[in-house]
Amino acid sequence: MLSTPEVLRRTGGRPVKSIIFDEAAIAAKVEALGAEITEAYPDGELLVLGLLKGSFIFLSDLVRQIERPIQVDFLVASSYGHSKVSSGTVRLVYDPKTRLEGKHILLVEDIIDTGKTLKRMMTLLAARRPRSLAICALLDKELAVEIRPELRFVGFRAPPAFLVGYGLDHAENYRHLPFIADLE
Ligand code: IMP
Ligand code: MG
Repeated sequence: MLSTPEVLRRTGGRPVKSIIFDEAAIAAKVEALGAEITEAYPDGELLVLGLLKGSFIFLSDLVRQIERPIQVDFLVASSYGHSKVSSGTVRLVYDPKTRLEGKHILLVEDIIDTGKTLKRMMTLLAARRPRSLAICALLDKELAVEIRPELRFVGFRAPPAFLVGYGLDHAENYRHLPFIADLE
């Protein structure tokens, strides 16, 4: 258990099991991803779409490492509608105001677990006739291989643990941690 004063001050006294990716490792990876994205899109309009809420910190760091013109917008998805049970369909709770047609779309996600949400989101977005549609995920748990969407840009392979920090939450807590930790 990791219970340094710096961790405990941020978590309200709850220790985390371990820090999986620290600030320096994340910063280096985000810089590399930004360079990769800059290189991958030599021409055309590029719209970077962050899937809220989990991607908010990653997205804000990532866009500052992309050295080409881009537009930024957000998506909010819900897979549950008003029911507590999954209906199996994904609804857009917030639909980007920006036009998608004819643009390169880069969907930015914090972590891919089963990949279900993202797979359905890709189908929804493809219907808007973008010029291209790709995914950038900071973390990939590499589970459920048969339904996983294709990930064009991936930061880290993640262990099959419950991770928090750098945008990732547990019941809306811990999103603000500057590192990624295994809660246990
Ligand atoms: P999927 O549809 O199963 O791939 O679920 C992906 C979503 O589940 C992510 O966008 C996260 O919001 C959430 N999630 C999956 N794994 C974790 C985790 O380890 N910590 C926090 N949230 C997670
Ligand atoms: Mg979440």
